[in-house]
Amino acid sequence: MFTKQTLLAFIGTLSLASARTIPASDDVPSLAEVEAAAATVVPYSPVSNVKGLAFDRFHQIWFENQGYQTTADDSNFAKIAKEGILLTNYFATTHPSQPNYVASAAGDNFGMDNDDFHQIPANVSTIADLLDTKRIAWGQYQEALPYAGYQGYNFSNQKTYANDYMRKHDPLIIFDSITNDDLRPRQIKNFSSFYEDLKHERLPQYSFITPNMTNDCHDTNITVGGNFLADFLPPLLKNEYFAKDTLVLITFDENNSIGENRVYSILVGGAIPEHLKGTTDDTFYTHYSIIASLSANWGLPSLGRWDCGANILKLVAEKTGYVNWEVDTSAVKNLLNETYPGPLSENIYSKYEPFWPIPTTSDRCTAGHGVVDIVKDTYNRRQPTFNYISPVPYDARSGYNTGIKYWRTKDGKKETGITN
Ligand SMILES: *[C@@H]1O[C@H](CO)[C@@H](O)[C@H](O)[C@H]1NC(C)=O
Ligand SMILES: *[C@@H]1O[C@H](CO)[C@@H](O)[C@H](O)[C@H]1NC(C)=O
Ligand SMILES: *[C@@H]1O[C@H](CO)[C@@H](O)[C@H](O)[C@H]1NC(C)=O
Ligand SMILES: *[C@@H]1O[C@H](CO)[C@@H](O)[C@H](O)[C@H]1NC(C)=O
Ligand SMILES: *[C@@H]1O[C@H](CO)[C@@H](O)[C@H](O)[C@H]1NC(C)=O
Ligand SMILES: *[C@@H]1O[C@H](CO)[C@@H](O)[C@H](O)[C@H]1NC(C)=O
Ligand SMILES: *[C@@H]1O[C@H](CO)[C@@H](O)[C@H](O)[C@H]1NC(C)=O
Repeated sequence: MFTKQTLLAFIGTLSLASARTIPASDDVPSLAEVEAAAATVVPYSPVSNVKGLAFDRFHQIWFENQGYQTTADDSNFAKIAKEGILLTNYFATTHPSQPNYVASAAGDNFGMDNDDFHQIPANVSTIADLLDTKRIAWGQYQEALPYAGYQGYNFSNQKTYANDYMRKHDPLIIFDSITNDDLRPRQIKNFSSFYEDLKHERLPQYSFITPNMTNDCHDTNITVGGNFLADFLPPLLKNEYFAKDTLVLITFDENNSIGENRVYSILVGGAIPEHLKGTTDDTFYTHYSIIASLSANWGLPSLGRWDCGANILKLVAEKTGYVNWEVDTSAVKNLLNETYPGPLSENIYSKYEPFWPIPTTSDRCTAGHGVVDIVKDTYNRRQPTFNYISPVPYDARSGYNTGIKYWRTKDGKKETGITN
């Protein structure tokens, strides 16, 4: 989607004196400037070794815009699924792409219903803030990112001008709480850095991996994505350093059409117990479940947004005794296919007060470690905008995703809830 903002935003001006990357502005630097920055900016690869309950390292690889069955029918995806756990009831949060990537980082999509250039204010926290509470090293690997921390809207293939890197698929760069810092942007790196970090055994304990617009199926189809996966992943799974106690999630940002927004997702890696290889897990998950699962795995707090009530991966839930919710996914037509109004909506945003949704500071979040201090300090017990304790995101004001029942049996007692 091309808008006024898109055309204006583009690439940040470059400070070559320091390694700090400057927020994107109206300037469009020349290729020479991008090359100069690439030669100057030093990628940052912190290392940590914090034991988790179910895994010690987590990588998520995101593909684009394919239906569940289309992916199941691809021989390469099907083959990888046989080596791991197929998640058959995993949902994206909305359409189009960018809000799903933002959801994976911040526990909300803030009503975003577009792929425009956004910078999310510094008082919105992300998964990086959670991991930082225990100094768990994190990073992102974006194929074709011209240098670590690049903030432009895109970086195309400079020979063919085909789409290659796109900011909308690069979750953490969209947040001022990342880019207002000297080090954090440099943890957002490209695939050359991935292979360097692999070689030097300094991969982070959390990473988000985005193949380019060809390999992630966006500008191509499932066959191309499957071929990429078949080249990329098996050597890593055979690499003892990479695979040991590692969990890899392969998922899609969104399903590709009107219909419920269920996406094909697989867990693989050395952290999968032998007896679970080739099995399926039909627990109701969303992209928010991943933040909640990382919190439960490492004993981290919650962001107090939709990660608060999200179901957590069974693999982790079994270690903590957490009982996940069952959800009546048939109650609403085309579940999770749209965005409720919010500050990043294209048109209708000004309707609601407060403009930016207030997170919860409830102690009742799934992971059981409260809400992260920076969120508590910033929002100071204000009334949360949404019922973030629900395992299903909904908005009672606009009627979005309302009327969905959920239930579980805990300590022999049936508990029920409804999104109203
Ligand atoms: C999206 O996923 C659902 C399965 O949950 C499926 O019925 C629908 O057809 C999918 N859309 C496409 C285009 O595959
Ligand atoms: C967070 O920042 C936004 C944008 O600057 C502002 O509108 C909002 O009031 C801030 N929220 C709080 C709780 O300070
Ligand atoms: C990857 O990033 C590094 C470090 O920022 C940069 O030097 C290199 O040119 C980039 N590689 C590609 C293929 O863009
Ligand atoms: C960004 O994309 C536009 C439109 O496809 C293209 O013309 C431009 O060269 C790209 N910018 C960079 C820096 O790659
Ligand atoms: C994406 O990366 C692959 C290599 O992984 C390369 O063959 C392909 O040309 C790249 N796509 C574009 C548009 O440059
Ligand atoms: C994907 O596109 C390639 C050509 O680029 C074609 O050979 C292949 O059959 C297509 N796959 C599907 C599932 O349409
Ligand atoms: C989402 O589902 C609703 C209800 O079926 C439908 O009216 C709407 O057009 C769908 N929107 C999208 C973007 O798929």
